[in-house]
Amino acid sequence: MASRMLSLVNLRTVVFSGSGSRQVTVATRFRSTSVTDHTELARERSKTVTSFYNQSAIDIASSKPSVRLTPTTMLYSGKSPDGSHILKSAHYLHKELPVRIAHRIKSFRGLPFIIGCNPTILQVHELYIRAFQKLSDFPPIKDREVEEKYCKLLRQLLDDHKDVVTQLAEGFRECRKHVQEESVLSQFLDKTLTSRLGIRMLATHHLALHEDKPDFVGIICTRLSPKKIIEKWVDFARRLCEHKYGNAPRVRINGHVAARFPFIPMPLDYILPELLKNAMRATMESHLDTPYNVPDILVTIANNDVDIIIRISDRGGGVPHSILEKVMDYHFTTAESSSQDPRMTSMFGNMVDMVNSGQSGPMHGFGFGLPTSRAYAEYLGGSLTIQSLQGIGTDVYLRFRHIEGKGESFRI
Ligand SMILES: Nc1ncnc2c1ncn2[C@@H]1O[C@H](COP(=O)(O)OP(=O)(O)OP(=O)(O)O)[C@@H](O)[C@H]1O
Ligand SMILES: [Mg+2]
Repeated sequence: MASRMLSLVNLRTVVFSGSGSRQVTVATRFRSTSVTDHTELARERSKTVTSFYNQSAIDIASSKPSVRLTPTTMLYSGKSPDGSHILKSAHYLHKELPVRIAHRIKSFRGLPFIIGCNPTILQVHELYIRAFQKLSDFPPIKDREVEEKYCKLLRQLLDDHKDVVTQLAEGFRECRKHVQEESVLSQFLDKTLTSRLGIRMLATHHLALHEDKPDFVGIICTRLSPKKIIEKWVDFARRLCEHKYGNAPRVRINGHVAARFPFIPMPLDYILPELLKNAMRATMESHLDTPYNVPDILVTIANNDVDIIIRISDRGGGVPHSILEKVMDYHFTTAESSSQDPRMTSMFGNMVDMVNSGQSGPMHGFGFGLPTSRAYAEYLGGSLTIQSLQGIGTDVYLRFRHIEGKGESFRI
C-alpha cells in the first residue's frame, strides 16, 4: 500500500512539476524518511493533494447543472448602447465556466485507473484543475476594470488549452490497448471535446463582444455565406494537398451559392477542413498513377428554413466495406498504411510531419477528423453522415439547424 502511494505521488510529482512546490515536498519526504511515521506522512500528503485537487469545491460545482445558451439569446443580448451586455456576459461566464470545468474534472476522475495514470492524460486533467482554480478564485466582476482582468484570464486559458485535442489523441493512443470497452473512450472523448468546443465558443464570444466587426455580434456572423467559408477551407486544403501530392483536385461549389444567414463560423472552421482534406486525400491516393489528372470534388449547398446541408462528393474510390463501420471510431486511420506506399513516400514525404508543421489545426493523422467532426455537429444539433459508393467515391453530408429557423435551435 505504502509503495503504491509512493509511486503515485512520485508520478504526480513528475507530471505536475512546475505546478508548485507542495507536491515536490511530499515526494521528497517519502524518499528521505522510509521508517518515519507513515500515518503522519499520509495525512500530510492527503492534505496537500486535497488542497491541490480542490476536492470539495469541485464536487460542489460538478453537482450543479450547466446552463446552455441558444445562439439567439447570445445574438439578442450581444449589444447594448451602454455596454451593460459585456458585464452581463461576464457574470454568466463567471458562474458557468467553473461548473462546466468541474463536470469535466469529474469525468477525468471516472476514467479507468490505468488510463487516468497516463502522463499525457494526467497533464490535461491537471490543466482542467488549474483552470478551475483560477476561474473559481476570480473575484466578483463588479466593473469594467475587473472585467478586463477577467478577459486576460480567459485569453490565457484559451491559450493554455489550445493543444488539448492533440494531447488527448496522443494520450489515449498510448493507453487505449488497456481498455476492453471501446465505448468508454469514445463517450469520454465525445463529451470532453464537445464540452471544450462549447467552452471555447462562449469564452471567444465574450472576448469578441469587445470588438466592433461588421456583420458580427461576438462570434455570431449575422450574414454568413456558406460558399465563402467553404472557399476559404478549399484554398487551405488544396495548399496542403499540393504540398503533399504535387497537385490537388479542383473543387466546384453548386446549389444555394448565394445563401446568407446568421450562423456561427467556428464549428464550420473545425469541420470543413477535415472533410475537405479527407476528400482530397482519397482522390489523390486513388489516382496515384495520374496525379495531374484527377476528378473534381463537388460541394453542394442546400439551404432551407429548417437547416443548412453541405454535401461533399469525391471520386476517391469510396470507403471500402471492410472499414466503413470503423471510420467514425477515434484513432481509426489508414494514414500509416498509405504513407508506406513507396510511391507516396518518395513523392510526397511524411504527411503527419508536414501537416503538424503547418498552421493546420490540432489533429492530423490521428484518425480524429471524422469522429471529432461528427461529435461537434451533433453537439450543435446537427449531423454528419457518410454514403460510400464503393468503387466510385464518397458523399459526406453535414447538416446544421439554423439559428433562427423553424423549430428549436441548438444550445451552446
Ligand atoms: N472521403 C473519403 N474517402 C475515402 N476514405 C475516407 C474518406 N474520408 C475518410 N476516409 C477513411 O476514414 C479514415 C478515418 O478518417 P479521419 O478523418 O477520421 O482520420 P484520418 O484522415 O485518417 O486522420 P486525421 O483526420 O486525424 O488527420 C481515413 O483514414 C480514411 O481511410
Ligand atoms: Mg481526416
